[in-house]
Amino acid sequence: MAGTWHWKEGKSDSRKLLYDPGNWGDLFKAAWLTRILPAMNPDQVCDLFAGAATYELSSRTRSRMQIIADDLLSQAMESFVKDAVWPSAATLCRSLLVPSAKVTVCDLDEERQESYRHQTGIAVYEPDDAWVVLSDVTKQHNTDGIRSAVCACLSAETGLLILDPFDVLAVWREVMPVIISAAKKTTVLLYVYNRSAKNEERLRDYRAFCSSMEKELGGISCMRGRIAADGFLPKAHHELWLMGDGVAKQTELAATLEAVTMKLEDALRRASCFSVR
Ligand SMILES: C[S@@+](CC[C@H](N)C(=O)[O-])C[C@H]1O[C@@H](n2cnc3c(N)ncnc32)[C@H](O)[C@@H]1O
Repeated sequence: MAGTWHWKEGKSDSRKLLYDPGNWGDLFKAAWLTRILPAMNPDQVCDLFAGAATYELSSRTRSRMQIIADDLLSQAMESFVKDAVWPSAATLCRSLLVPSAKVTVCDLDEERQESYRHQTGIAVYEPDDAWVVLSDVTKQHNTDGIRSAVCACLSAETGLLILDPFDVLAVWREVMPVIISAAKKTTVLLYVYNRSAKNEERLRDYRAFCSSMEKELGGISCMRGRIAADGFLPKAHHELWLMGDGVAKQTELAATLEAVTMKLEDALRRASCFSVR
């Protein structure tokens, strides 16, 4: 999967490349993190689909940031924007957390993984397949390197496991058991790229994913947010699922995540819902 995942360079407008760093999904995830981190104060954060440490800040992302310039997110991004970069979720976590909190990253792609070696305070291991790592950890197999770091995150008093695969809906039947097993042990933030608006088949599959997740989560709490992928006739949506026992008592966090989700959805839809010429 890593081989098919690419991002747009700042000045490129190639239609072939899939990922635009600093897209609305990234803003959404970063906005949630600016609320989740102070509320939960995790002492361990692991991102197993960590991407690259930073990306070139595109003019598109600058304009998105201007639309929500009044948000807490802008403060968190200030130093990155000054340096003309967009931080990955892990890099953002590092900048917002106290130094004693451990941040660990992993990615299947060697070059992206390597880019973290220049960041201070981020533990980097060898490139590895996140789903295999999680499955090994669940079965308590092979607990060295990244596996022992993931074990530590899952058993930490307040851990946060970030799962940000490009397309979890393509593999959800295979990977759901390890996602649920992780959510039974710690707080998991899962990103879902939801393309169910495209056709009936995808919609049916997405509904099956949601009901299986609900069933398997059982008594575990979950907060879910969804925004359109863009304001122009969106055929996709960005979703975040925050799951875990620690989420249950976070009523203030729920209110703030709801508010920022609505703010982003509103901002991006309003930008294209009416025009006069
Ligand atoms: C959407 S990007 C992650 C972005 C990143 N979390 C950030 O905040 O910038 C998905 C990443 O997952 C990696 N990837 C894809 N499949 C993987 C797998 N099975 N195990 C680990 N990494 C994988 C890709 O190389 C890519 O860097």
